[in-house]
Amino acid sequence: MSKEILAAIDVGTTKICCVVGAVVHDSLGQLGLRILGSSVTPSRGIRRGVVMDVPEVTTAIGQVLEGAEKAAGLRITSAYVGIAGSHITTTNSAGISPIDSRHGVTGADMQRALEAAQAVSLPASREVIHVIARRWKVDEHTDIQQPLGMSGHRLEVDAHIVSGTTSAINNLAQCVLEHGIDIDELVLEPLASGEAVLTPEERYMGVAMADWGGGTTDLAFFRGNGLWHTEVLDVGGNHLTNDVALGLRAPFEVAEEMKLRYGHLQPERVAEDEEVWATVFGDRPERTFSRRFISQILEARAEEICEIIQERITSSGYGQMVPAGLVLTGGSSQIPGAVELSRRLLGMPVRVGRPGEHTPIQQLSRELQSPAFATSVGLLLWGLHEDARAIHFPMQKTLREESPMLVRLGGWLRSLLPG
Ligand SMILES: Nc1ncnc2c1ncn2[C@@H]1O[C@H](COP(=O)(O)OP(=O)(O)OP(=O)(O)O)[C@@H](O)[C@H]1O
Ligand SMILES: [Mg+2]
Repeated sequence: MSKEILAAIDVGTTKICCVVGAVVHDSLGQLGLRILGSSVTPSRGIRRGVVMDVPEVTTAIGQVLEGAEKAAGLRITSAYVGIAGSHITTTNSAGISPIDSRHGVTGADMQRALEAAQAVSLPASREVIHVIARRWKVDEHTDIQQPLGMSGHRLEVDAHIVSGTTSAINNLAQCVLEHGIDIDELVLEPLASGEAVLTPEERYMGVAMADWGGGTTDLAFFRGNGLWHTEVLDVGGNHLTNDVALGLRAPFEVAEEMKLRYGHLQPERVAEDEEVWATVFGDRPERTFSRRFISQILEARAEEICEIIQERITSSGYGQMVPAGLVLTGGSSQIPGAVELSRRLLGMPVRVGRPGEHTPIQQLSRELQSPAFATSVGLLLWGLHEDARAIHFPMQKTLREESPMLVRLGGWLRSLLPG
């Protein structure tokens, strides 16, 4: 691990967060993380996980950088940055490389196979963000997690390619680079969240993770210690708030407060006669509403989101491959009844995943233990485990030519090896 200080920037739809951590080594030489400081500000200029207003987002990122630097007592020079949004698409692709039969499979053979897999035909407007090895094949031997050193003639990789639109990637990068901060890596948000909330057993057995945020719900499937599939759904907690706003005819801020204070996804658990006050539009600013009615509105939308998750689990073909069930995280997973509703609709084990619960992190504040910070904390863990996983790839030429700013990204795209 070359870096001793790691920083993460999560540019979410509702909040922008920067966390700084120090790499620590325990007496057994195991790597760990100690949080040094963090800072959060409400988002501006982000819609559904995507930068819509570069100056606004740049200013907000400047605020959290300053806040985190002050809290940590140091200057941030580079950061891992989360990326999400519906511009992200994923595809699976195979790559092949010959093996020099005198040496067995080498890192260079694996890199060649991954490069070949990466050569999918993408439209000029898209860029590869990650190339992730799902499994390897050496001659007739299939389902190999780690082929290094195996003898044979032909190495084949089944890789998961994550790409995004060049403009969305560049806009996000620009908002960070503007502050003189280098980007260690752009990391797909569900990959980062998975680092923070999943146990090694879940990852090994097969698990689905849903980061239910404000503007998006990020899905990821892990199995055999590797990432199997990812998707970014264009729906999140803001949709629940919008529904309440429409149902009560109240401003969004009022509906958000109602959701946070009184929301429940099991209306039958709310007393039938419980009434709450809300400020609505029109000439009767204060009105009472049945809390159960508000919960019914929330339940209807949450059921719809769960049905989309169910549909994606089925259509991706991984339904039978997630015996560990679903781990829900993200700010919206905190709404009471979320686990029960998901369990009922998906018919699988469901739990809420919180940073620090399964991976001990020193000085992790109560605030950062919330599921809303799964991505932020996960980005630091992603950086911590980088050496165990990464092979570096020269950044695509087109990206350099189109965006000189991005040359400062460090000049690398990363590919991942399992375990
Ligand atoms: N206790 C709670 N009950 C219900 N919803 C909650 C609660 N706490 C937070 N939320 C919701 O969580 C959402 C924000 O989650 P999060 O902070 O994970 O989103 P984000 O990272 O900013 O956005 P995204 O990842 O979608 O771009 C908001 O919609 C908010 O209303
Ligand atoms: Mg988020």
